[in-house]
Amino acid sequence: MVGHDLIRHIDSLMSDEIVDCESLKIAINKLVKAYIKNSDRLDKITKLSDKQQIEMLKLNENLESAYSELDIYKNHLEERVHAAVSDIRLLNEELSKTQIEVIFTMGAIGESRSKETGNHVKRVAEYSKILALAYGLDKEEAELLKRVSPMHDIGKVAIPDHILNKPGKLTEEEFAVMQKHTVIGYEMLSNSDRDIMNAARIVAHEHHEKYGGGGYPRGIAGEEIHIFGRITAIADVFDALGSDRCYKKAWDDDRIFSLFKEERGRHFDPLLVDAFFDTIKDILDIRGALKDEF
Ligand SMILES: [Fe+2]
Ligand SMILES: [Fe+2]
Repeated sequence: MVGHDLIRHIDSLMSDEIVDCESLKIAINKLVKAYIKNSDRLDKITKLSDKQQIEMLKLNENLESAYSELDIYKNHLEERVHAAVSDIRLLNEELSKTQIEVIFTMGAIGESRSKETGNHVKRVAEYSKILALAYGLDKEEAELLKRVSPMHDIGKVAIPDHILNKPGKLTEEEFAVMQKHTVIGYEMLSNSDRDIMNAARIVAHEHHEKYGGGGYPRGIAGEEIHIFGRITAIADVFDALGSDRCYKKAWDDDRIFSLFKEERGRHFDPLLVDAFFDTIKDILDIRGALKDEF
Protein backbone atom coordinates (compact mmCIF):
# COMPACT_ATOMS: atom_id res chain seq x y z
CA MET A 1 0.00 0.00 0.00
CA VAL A 2 2.82 2.40 0.94
CA GLY A 3 4.54 1.78 -2.42
CA HIS A 4 1.26 2.34 -4.20
CA ASP A 5 0.65 5.66 -2.45
CA LEU A 6 4.10 6.90 -3.44
CA ILE A 7 3.73 5.93 -7.07
CA ARG A 8 0.33 7.57 -7.25
CA HIS A 9 1.78 10.73 -5.64
CA ILE A 10 4.77 10.92 -8.03
CA ASP A 11 2.46 10.35 -10.93
CA SER A 12 0.27 13.28 -9.91
CA LEU A 13 3.31 15.54 -9.45
CA MET A 14 4.72 14.56 -12.83
CA SER A 15 1.52 15.29 -14.68
CA ASP A 16 0.39 18.56 -13.00
CA GLU A 17 3.04 20.26 -10.86
CA ILE A 18 6.55 19.58 -12.28
CA VAL A 19 7.04 22.48 -14.69
CA ASP A 20 10.46 23.80 -13.61
CA CYS A 21 13.46 23.15 -11.36
CA GLU A 22 11.85 24.79 -8.37
CA SER A 23 8.81 22.71 -8.80
CA LEU A 24 11.02 19.65 -9.08
CA LYS A 25 12.73 20.54 -5.75
CA ILE A 26 9.36 20.96 -4.13
CA ALA A 27 8.24 17.68 -5.57
CA ILE A 28 11.38 15.90 -4.33
CA ASN A 29 10.90 17.51 -0.97
CA LYS A 30 7.35 16.24 -0.85
CA LEU A 31 8.58 12.83 -1.88
CA VAL A 32 11.19 12.79 0.91
CA LYS A 33 8.54 13.87 3.43
CA ALA A 34 6.15 11.30 2.11
CA TYR A 35 8.89 8.68 2.38
CA ILE A 36 9.71 9.72 5.97
CA LYS A 37 6.02 9.73 6.84
CA ASN A 38 5.56 6.28 5.34
CA SER A 39 8.76 5.07 6.98
CA ASP A 40 7.23 6.04 10.32
CA ARG A 41 4.14 4.06 9.38
CA LEU A 42 6.33 1.12 8.40
CA ASP A 43 8.16 1.42 11.74
CA LYS A 44 4.85 1.45 13.53
CA ILE A 45 3.77 -1.63 11.64
CA THR A 46 7.07 -3.35 12.49
CA LYS A 47 6.82 -2.28 16.12
CA LEU A 48 3.24 -3.52 16.31
CA SER A 49 4.40 -6.76 14.77
CA ASP A 50 7.18 -7.07 17.40
CA LYS A 51 4.66 -6.45 20.15
CA GLN A 52 2.43 -9.03 18.63
CA GLN A 53 5.37 -11.38 18.39
CA ILE A 54 6.18 -10.82 22.07
CA GLU A 55 2.55 -11.47 22.91
CA MET A 56 2.70 -14.55 20.75
CA LEU A 57 5.82 -15.71 22.56
CA LYS A 58 4.16 -15.07 25.91
CA LEU A 59 1.08 -16.89 24.75
CA ASN A 60 3.28 -19.73 23.62
CA GLU A 61 5.06 -19.85 26.98
CA ASN A 62 1.70 -19.84 28.75
CA LEU A 63 0.50 -22.64 26.52
CA GLU A 64 3.64 -24.68 27.20
CA SER A 65 3.29 -24.20 30.92
CA ALA A 66 -0.41 -25.11 30.69
CA TYR A 67 0.55 -28.27 28.78
CA SER A 68 3.14 -29.20 31.35
CA GLU A 69 0.64 -28.59 34.19
CA LEU A 70 -1.81 -30.74 32.29
CA ASP A 71 0.85 -33.48 32.02
CA ILE A 72 1.52 -33.31 35.75
CA TYR A 73 -2.21 -33.44 36.44
CA LYS A 74 -2.61 -36.34 34.02
CA ASN A 75 0.23 -38.30 35.67
CA HIS A 76 -1.19 -37.50 39.08
CA LEU A 77 -4.61 -38.61 37.93
CA GLU A 78 -3.16 -41.87 36.57
CA GLU A 79 -1.42 -42.49 39.90
CA ARG A 80 -4.68 -41.84 41.73
CA VAL A 81 -6.60 -44.17 39.41
CA HIS A 82 -3.96 -46.90 39.91
CA ALA A 83 -4.10 -46.42 43.67
CA ALA A 84 -7.90 -46.54 43.62
CA VAL A 85 -7.89 -49.70 41.47
CA SER A 86 -5.44 -51.39 43.81
CA ASP A 87 -7.56 -50.31 46.83
CA ILE A 88 -10.63 -51.81 45.15
CA ARG A 89 -8.70 -55.02 44.44
CA LEU A 90 -7.63 -55.27 48.09
CA LEU A 91 -11.19 -54.60 49.22
CA ASN A 92 -12.47 -57.29 46.88
CA GLU A 93 -9.93 -59.78 48.22
CA GLU A 94 -10.91 -58.85 51.75
CA LEU A 95 -14.59 -59.19 50.88
CA SER A 96 -13.97 -62.53 49.25
CA LYS A 97 -12.01 -63.84 52.29
CA THR A 98 -14.72 -62.57 54.60
CA GLN A 99 -17.35 -64.24 52.46
CA ILE A 100 -15.48 -67.56 52.66
CA GLU A 101 -15.13 -67.23 56.43
CA VAL A 102 -18.82 -66.40 56.82
CA ILE A 103 -19.75 -69.40 54.68
CA PHE A 104 -17.49 -71.77 56.64
CA THR A 105 -18.90 -70.38 59.87
CA MET A 106 -22.49 -70.82 58.68
CA GLY A 107 -21.70 -74.34 57.53
CA ALA A 108 -19.95 -75.11 60.79
CA ILE A 109 -22.99 -73.82 62.74
CA GLY A 110 -25.19 -76.25 60.82
CA GLU A 111 -22.78 -79.11 61.45
CA SER A 112 -21.99 -78.20 65.08
CA ARG A 113 -25.64 -78.62 65.99
CA SER A 114 -25.09 -82.27 65.17
CA LYS A 115 -21.77 -82.39 67.07
CA GLU A 116 -19.66 -82.51 63.95
CA THR A 117 -16.43 -80.58 63.66
CA GLY A 118 -15.75 -77.43 61.68
CA ASN A 119 -13.14 -79.40 59.78
CA HIS A 120 -15.84 -81.61 58.25
CA VAL A 121 -17.10 -78.68 56.15
CA LYS A 122 -13.55 -77.67 55.24
CA ARG A 123 -12.74 -81.18 54.07
CA VAL A 124 -15.98 -81.39 52.09
CA ALA A 125 -15.08 -78.06 50.46
CA GLU A 126 -11.65 -79.34 49.39
CA TYR A 127 -12.92 -82.75 48.20
CA SER A 128 -15.64 -80.99 46.19
CA LYS A 129 -13.12 -78.84 44.39
CA ILE A 130 -10.87 -81.81 43.58
CA LEU A 131 -13.83 -83.82 42.26
CA ALA A 132 -15.20 -80.86 40.28
CA LEU A 133 -11.89 -80.38 38.47
CA ALA A 134 -11.48 -84.12 37.85
CA TYR A 135 -15.03 -84.25 36.47
CA GLY A 136 -14.16 -81.47 34.02
CA LEU A 137 -15.70 -78.35 35.51
CA ASP A 138 -13.64 -75.22 34.94
CA LYS A 139 -11.59 -73.58 37.68
CA GLU A 140 -14.18 -70.89 38.39
CA GLU A 141 -17.00 -73.40 38.85
CA ALA A 142 -14.79 -75.63 41.00
CA GLU A 143 -13.85 -72.64 43.15
CA LEU A 144 -17.49 -71.59 43.46
CA LEU A 145 -18.46 -75.10 44.55
CA LYS A 146 -15.61 -75.15 47.08
CA ARG A 147 -17.02 -71.96 48.55
CA VAL A 148 -20.60 -73.13 48.85
CA SER A 149 -20.35 -76.84 49.63
CA PRO A 150 -19.70 -76.12 53.35
CA MET A 151 -23.28 -74.86 53.52
CA HIS A 152 -24.84 -78.18 52.54
CA ASP A 153 -26.23 -78.80 56.04
CA ILE A 154 -27.07 -75.24 57.06
CA GLY A 155 -30.73 -76.28 57.33
CA LYS A 156 -29.82 -78.45 60.33
CA VAL A 157 -29.97 -75.33 62.50
CA ALA A 158 -33.72 -75.81 62.49
CA ILE A 159 -33.73 -79.54 63.37
CA PRO A 160 -34.36 -80.33 67.05
CA ASP A 161 -31.36 -81.55 69.04
CA HIS A 162 -33.01 -84.79 70.17
CA ILE A 163 -33.26 -85.84 66.51
CA LEU A 164 -29.92 -84.45 65.33
CA ASN A 165 -27.93 -85.99 68.14
CA LYS A 166 -29.91 -89.16 68.71
CA PRO A 167 -27.58 -92.09 69.21
CA GLY A 168 -28.87 -94.92 67.09
CA LYS A 169 -31.42 -95.19 64.33
CA LEU A 170 -34.10 -92.55 63.78
CA THR A 171 -37.76 -93.51 63.72
CA GLU A 172 -39.66 -92.94 60.50
CA GLU A 173 -41.15 -89.68 61.85
CA GLU A 174 -37.79 -88.49 63.12
CA PHE A 175 -36.18 -89.25 59.77
CA ALA A 176 -38.94 -87.27 58.02
CA VAL A 177 -38.10 -84.28 60.23
CA MET A 178 -34.38 -84.75 59.62
CA GLN A 179 -34.91 -84.78 55.85
CA LYS A 180 -36.39 -81.31 56.09
CA HIS A 181 -32.91 -79.79 56.62
CA THR A 182 -32.52 -79.83 52.81
CA VAL A 183 -35.63 -77.75 52.15
CA ILE A 184 -35.02 -75.51 55.17
CA GLY A 185 -31.47 -74.84 53.91
CA TYR A 186 -32.83 -74.11 50.43
CA GLU A 187 -35.32 -71.63 51.85
CA MET A 188 -32.76 -70.01 54.14
CA LEU A 189 -30.59 -69.26 51.13
CA SER A 190 -33.37 -67.99 48.88
CA ASN A 191 -33.13 -64.30 49.71
CA SER A 192 -30.42 -63.53 47.19
CA ASP A 193 -29.93 -64.12 43.50
CA ARG A 194 -26.17 -63.79 43.55
CA ASP A 195 -24.23 -66.67 41.93
CA ILE A 196 -22.79 -67.75 45.24
CA MET A 197 -26.20 -67.94 46.90
CA ASN A 198 -27.75 -69.72 43.92
CA ALA A 199 -25.00 -72.34 44.12
CA ALA A 200 -25.28 -72.65 47.91
CA ARG A 201 -29.04 -73.12 47.59
CA ILE A 202 -28.55 -75.95 45.07
CA VAL A 203 -26.05 -77.73 47.31
CA ALA A 204 -28.26 -77.41 50.42
CA HIS A 205 -31.27 -78.67 48.47
CA GLU A 206 -29.76 -81.52 46.45
CA HIS A 207 -26.93 -83.13 48.45
CA HIS A 208 -29.14 -86.04 49.55
CA GLU A 209 -30.53 -86.79 46.10
CA LYS A 210 -29.31 -90.06 44.55
CA TYR A 211 -28.11 -90.53 40.99
CA GLY A 212 -30.30 -93.59 40.51
CA GLY A 213 -33.30 -91.90 42.18
CA GLY A 214 -34.81 -92.52 45.61
CA GLY A 215 -33.01 -89.73 47.45
CA TYR A 216 -34.64 -86.75 49.14
CA PRO A 217 -36.31 -84.25 49.23
CA ARG A 218 -37.53 -84.49 45.62
CA GLY A 219 -36.37 -87.93 44.49
CA ILE A 220 -34.88 -86.54 41.28
CA ALA A 221 -32.29 -88.61 39.38
CA GLY A 222 -29.32 -88.55 37.00
CA GLU A 223 -28.49 -85.18 35.53
CA GLU A 224 -31.69 -83.70 36.90
CA ILE A 225 -29.56 -83.36 40.01
CA HIS A 226 -27.26 -80.40 39.53
CA ILE A 227 -23.59 -81.34 39.26
CA PHE A 228 -22.93 -79.31 42.43
CA GLY A 229 -25.45 -81.50 44.29
CA ARG A 230 -23.96 -84.71 42.86
CA ILE A 231 -20.41 -83.71 43.80
CA THR A 232 -21.28 -82.53 47.31
CA ALA A 233 -23.15 -85.80 47.88
CA ILE A 234 -20.09 -87.97 47.26
CA ALA A 235 -17.74 -85.62 49.15
CA ASP A 236 -20.09 -85.44 52.15
CA VAL A 237 -20.75 -89.18 52.34
CA PHE A 238 -17.05 -90.01 52.03
CA ASP A 239 -16.22 -87.69 54.91
CA ALA A 240 -19.19 -88.73 57.05
CA LEU A 241 -18.44 -92.45 56.68
CA GLY A 242 -14.79 -91.93 57.59
CA SER A 243 -15.64 -89.97 60.77
CA ASP A 244 -17.12 -90.94 64.12
CA ARG A 245 -20.71 -89.76 64.44
CA CYS A 246 -23.14 -89.95 67.35
CA TYR A 247 -24.91 -92.87 65.69
CA LYS A 248 -21.88 -94.81 64.33
CA LYS A 249 -18.12 -95.34 64.42
CA ALA A 250 -15.87 -94.34 61.52
CA TRP A 251 -15.61 -96.86 58.72
CA ASP A 252 -12.21 -97.98 57.45
CA ASP A 253 -11.23 -96.95 53.93
CA ASP A 254 -11.64 -100.38 52.32
CA ARG A 255 -15.23 -100.57 53.51
CA ILE A 256 -15.91 -97.06 52.17
CA PHE A 257 -14.26 -97.86 48.83
CA SER A 258 -16.27 -101.04 48.32
CA LEU A 259 -19.49 -99.17 49.14
CA PHE A 260 -18.57 -96.50 46.59
CA LYS A 261 -18.04 -99.18 43.94
CA GLU A 262 -21.43 -100.71 44.79
CA GLU A 263 -23.12 -97.30 44.69
CA ARG A 264 -21.56 -96.33 41.33
CA GLY A 265 -24.61 -95.28 39.28
CA ARG A 266 -26.96 -95.83 42.23
CA HIS A 267 -26.30 -93.34 45.00
CA PHE A 268 -23.50 -91.61 43.11
CA ASP A 269 -22.89 -90.35 39.58
CA PRO A 270 -20.69 -93.10 38.00
CA LEU A 271 -18.30 -90.52 36.49
CA LEU A 272 -17.83 -88.97 39.90
CA VAL A 273 -17.03 -92.35 41.46
CA ASP A 274 -14.36 -92.73 38.76
CA ALA A 275 -13.12 -89.19 39.48
CA PHE A 276 -13.02 -90.06 43.18
CA PHE A 277 -10.77 -93.08 42.64
CA ASP A 278 -8.63 -91.15 40.13
CA THR A 279 -7.94 -88.46 42.71
CA ILE A 280 -7.94 -90.61 45.84
CA LYS A 281 -4.35 -89.65 46.70
CA ASP A 282 -5.18 -85.92 46.78
CA ILE A 283 -8.37 -86.61 48.73
CA LEU A 284 -6.53 -88.64 51.39
CA ASP A 285 -3.86 -85.91 51.62
CA ILE A 286 -6.60 -83.37 52.40
CA ARG A 287 -8.10 -85.69 55.01
CA GLY A 288 -4.66 -86.02 56.62
CA ALA A 289 -4.05 -82.26 56.59
CA LEU A 290 -7.48 -81.37 58.01
CA LYS A 291 -7.87 -83.97 60.75
CA ASP A 292 -10.51 -83.47 63.40
CA GLU A 293 -9.24 -81.82 66.56
CA PHE A 294 -10.58 -83.19 69.83
FE1 LIG B 1 -27.28 -83.17 54.88
FE1 LIG C 1 -22.15 -82.96 56.04
